[in-house]
Amino acid sequence: MMDFERNILCVGAGYVGGPTMAMIAYKCPQYKVTVVDINPDRIRQWNSDKLPIFEPGLEEVVVACRDRNLFFSTDIEKGIREAEIIFVSVNTPTKTFGAGAGMAADLQYWEKTARQIRDCAESPKIVVEKSTLPVKTSLAMERILTGDNDQVYFDVLSNPEFLAEGTAMQDLENPDRVLIGSHETKNALKAREVLVEIYANWVDRERIITTNLWSSELSKLVANAFLAQRISSINSISALCEKTEADIAEVAKAIGMDSRVGEKFLRASVGFGGSCFKKDILNLVYLCRYYGLNEVADYWEGVVRINDYQKDRFVLNMLNAMFNTLAGKKICLFGFAFKADTGDTRESPGIFIARKLAEEKAELVITDPEALDNARLDLKDLDQHITYLDDPYEAAEKSHAIAVLTEWQVYRDLDYERIYHSMMKPAFIFDGRNILDHRRLFEMGFNVFPIGKAPLTHY
Ligand code: NAD
Ligand code: UGA
Repeated sequence: MMDFERNILCVGAGYVGGPTMAMIAYKCPQYKVTVVDINPDRIRQWNSDKLPIFEPGLEEVVVACRDRNLFFSTDIEKGIREAEIIFVSVNTPTKTFGAGAGMAADLQYWEKTARQIRDCAESPKIVVEKSTLPVKTSLAMERILTGDNDQVYFDVLSNPEFLAEGTAMQDLENPDRVLIGSHETKNALKAREVLVEIYANWVDRERIITTNLWSSELSKLVANAFLAQRISSINSISALCEKTEADIAEVAKAIGMDSRVGEKFLRASVGFGGSCFKKDILNLVYLCRYYGLNEVADYWEGVVRINDYQKDRFVLNMLNAMFNTLAGKKICLFGFAFKADTGDTRESPGIFIARKLAEEKAELVITDPEALDNARLDLKDLDQHITYLDDPYEAAEKSHAIAVLTEWQVYRDLDYERIYHSMMKPAFIFDGRNILDHRRLFEMGFNVFPIGKAPLTHY
């Protein structure tokens, strides 16, 4: 067997653990990388032809490295014993119970992992926080690791992940920056250098930035809060555009060309989704309240409030446009994933919108190229009112309205003439992503309702 230069473990084989470790293994054939998880199904899928997550470019990288220097396993204890560097990328969802329910991060999975590392380690380890965590979590991590096991020396580093789903492999291959937080002690700086060296295999050193532990932990929450804030800002203005006939795309372009503002992340939408934005902002809000900073907490909570408002507004606009009744009407959802190029539906606006439409007694047909399995799980209590279809043409047939919820390329390229003729009249399109040619659709006969632009209607 070949000798590897380093033995790297990652605990948590999810959307972060899988792709990040696949990229390290791909770029660094000299390292052995093992990804472990408590969920045997997930590990079985990582070892199969059908990976547990859909991410463009991921499969090729996994296939190239798997069983060469990339291994997926359920044997967490063995993994811990053998590794010198342990990334922890377990989930840290919003707490659903007890103090801080609905706000604070639920750290139970993370703490179990910390204890397991402490209990199994027989040699020094560098433990790397990859999960997104509240500020000062690494202090708790150190306390757990050093209590009861003074035989083994641990260094704790913070290395938050900034990848976005759908572009994870590009983001990992070519990151804007890699952030590493550590203490300033001699040992900690040595551990930090080990991690820097790993990334330096393919990332420019100028892009690898180092900070103290707390700045690193906080920067991750703040990065997500700033990104989400831009979306809520533009979405709030989309509501004003709809009242004033200003056009949100024109406004976004006009402000985005100011280089101080920048053009990215100004796409008005049906609202942001995904497993992290809401969770991380609420986590930040909770931290601010904990430290008595209520004004700061209120400010950031507004980002989540506007997002809820935007989703609500979308459904109300549909109801309003369709003569204030949706009962018995067939409504087709184009897309259910929280964004294009992923099958992930966590916190997807589609979940909220489908539920609201079902409350109005609409009959739903949902189509999505990758997310239907997850959609079925998210909405399993509504089974008798929802049909899931792969083919968008079939899904739209005989429907009263189409709502575009995900910006998949396929929905831009459909034959809308054909779709129009197969629908009930008057036919409505609610473009929750502003990806369609609204004028053309209107000329075909559709009543078109974009986000942040005047509707185009025939009545
Ligand atoms: P995920 O739910 O997809 O994966 C987490 C995995 O950890 C699961 O497979 C779960 O079974 C496993 N796990 C939980 N407890 C375990 C334990 N004790 N031992 C072993 N495995 C365990 O979550 P994710 O989307 O990969 O997110 C992980 C972390 O990364 C979160 O803190 C998240 O905020 C952060 N993050 C996510 C993204 C993203 O795009 N999804 C991006 C950046 C950061
Ligand atoms: C986001 C961040 O972009 C990542 O940097 C971060 O690592 C990650 O969260 C995380 O911590 O989990 P992700 O949620 O995967 O990544 O995807 P984004 O591209 O940020 O999109 C989030 C949501 O915002 C999607 O629903 C998307 O459709 C929406 N969005 C995005 C808009 O509505 N308008 C925009 O202009 C951009």
